[in-house]
Order: sequence, then C-alpha cells, then structure tokens
Amino acid sequence: MSSGSIDRATTGCKGLDKMLHGGFLHGRNILLSGGAGIGKTTLAVQFICEGARNDETSMYVTLEESKEKLYADMHELHLDIAELEKTGNFLLIGGPLAVITQSMKNVNANVHHLIKEIEEIVKEKNVKRLVLDSLNLFLMLLETEEERRTALAMLCNTLSSLGVTALLLTETKEGSLELSTYGIEEFITDGVIALYRVRQGAKFIPGIAIKKMRGTNHDKEIRLFKITENGVVVYPDQTMFTDI
Ligand SMILES: Nc1ncnc2c1ncn2[C@@H]1O[C@H](COP(=O)(O)OP(=O)(O)O)[C@@H](O)[C@H]1O
Ligand SMILES: [Mg+2]
Repeated sequence: MSSGSIDRATTGCKGLDKMLHGGFLHGRNILLSGGAGIGKTTLAVQFICEGARNDETSMYVTLEESKEKLYADMHELHLDIAELEKTGNFLLIGGPLAVITQSMKNVNANVHHLIKEIEEIVKEKNVKRLVLDSLNLFLMLLETEEERRTALAMLCNTLSSLGVTALLLTETKEGSLELSTYGIEEFITDGVIALYRVRQGAKFIPGIAIKKMRGTNHDKEIRLFKITENGVVVYPDQTMFTDI
C-alpha cells in the first residue's frame, strides 16, 4: 500500500495525515483520547468538515454539548456551517439522542436503541464519516464491563460493516497516561490517537501520538500540535522529547 494514497480518508489536519501516511483507512473506527479542553472536539469537527467538503455524508453525534454550542465552536474556527449544510453532506445529531439516553428506564436496551438509531441514519443518508462525542457518555450508561464491551463491539462492528470511518472521542483524566475511561476501549477500536499535555520544563506543551492503527504503518513519535483559529495544527516534523 503506497503512502499518501488517495483511497484514504483525509482528516482535515494535514500534519495528522502525514503522521497517518495519508489518512485513515476507510471503514475503521478510531479512539481519540485526551484530557478536557485538549482539542478532541476541534479535531473531530475538522474531520467531519473535511468529509463534507469531499462530498461524503458526514455525521457528528453530540451527546456531550448542545448543537448550539457546537455550532458556536465551529463558527469560532472559521468553518462556514451554512455552506456545509447547503452541500447536504453535513449532519449534526444531538439533543434528541441525548434526551433518549437521559430518560431511560432500561439502560441496556436504550444503548442498543441508540446504536440502532445511528445505524438507521447511516443507511438512510449513506453516511461515510461519523463522530461520537463522547464515547464516555455512551459507555457510562452501562453498568458492567461485559455490557460495555458488548455494546462497544456492536457499535464498532455496525459502523465498519457499513463502511463508516468513525472517530470515537473519549475524555481521560488530566495528567493520566490511561488511553480510556474503562480500560477496554483501546483494545476494541481499530486505532487510537492520544492527545497529551507534555511537561517540558515549566510548561505544558500539547503533543499528539498515534498509539495504534490496525492495517497500516504510521508515525510512532509524539508530535507537537497547536490549536489555532483554524483548528488543530500538527507539526509532523517536530518530535517531542518525553518518556511517555
Ligand atoms: N481560536 C482559538 N485559538 C486557539 N485556541 C483555541 C481557539 N478556540 C479554542 N481554543 C482552545 O481549544 C480548546 C477547546 O478544545 P476542544 O476541542 O473543545 O477540547 P475537548 O473537546 O478535548 O475538551 C480550548 O480549551 C482552547 O484552549
Ligand atoms: Mg469536547
């Protein structure tokens, strides 16, 4: 497989594409992990906008923020939402799904209902890219590790079988080196990208690393990134010296 081949899903972040040797493999699911405010939502929005611009139906499922807040964040990043919506390739799903999850009696059944609902929208609209913000909230609805494993595997398998490239966002504790909340997510997903705050002297510097990516080679270093007014910018040639 050649590096940078066009049959990859470019991420909307050029530096990250370089780290990935061109982008994500289509139909894979990737865990995007990091502490609060590190840039997960920003990077995920870039991924969705990139899809919409490339004429792929791209769907953002927010259980975390209101739709209005997400629109405001996107506006802040100079993303022309109205223009994206006109293409018909951009779907923002929130509120209703979040409401479903809040008003549940049988939690387990409702998580499956949520997966079913996502599956139906994916099929109806021919969705090619999906963001779930966040996986924490989704898994929090379940009580046992067994239930979480089953539900996450079902979600990943459903999306893969429909050819959807998915970013699953998960928030980790500040300063923790854990990649997920429940310690199972990184084993089930096809790939893991971690965003860190790396201590260098008296400063904390944002770093990004690809911890795992099934089916492809990729950059193994921790690279510097910044959040700018145009979103997450990765510097793929700037290695961070740390013992993470
Ligand atoms: N225009 C901007 N320029 C630089 N940094 C910004 C800008 N807008 C937002 N940020 C940074 O982005 C962060 C929000 O990132 P976000 O993607 O919401 O994080 P997460 O989803 O991981 O909690 C804020 O904490 C802020 O530091
Ligand atoms: Mg967020």
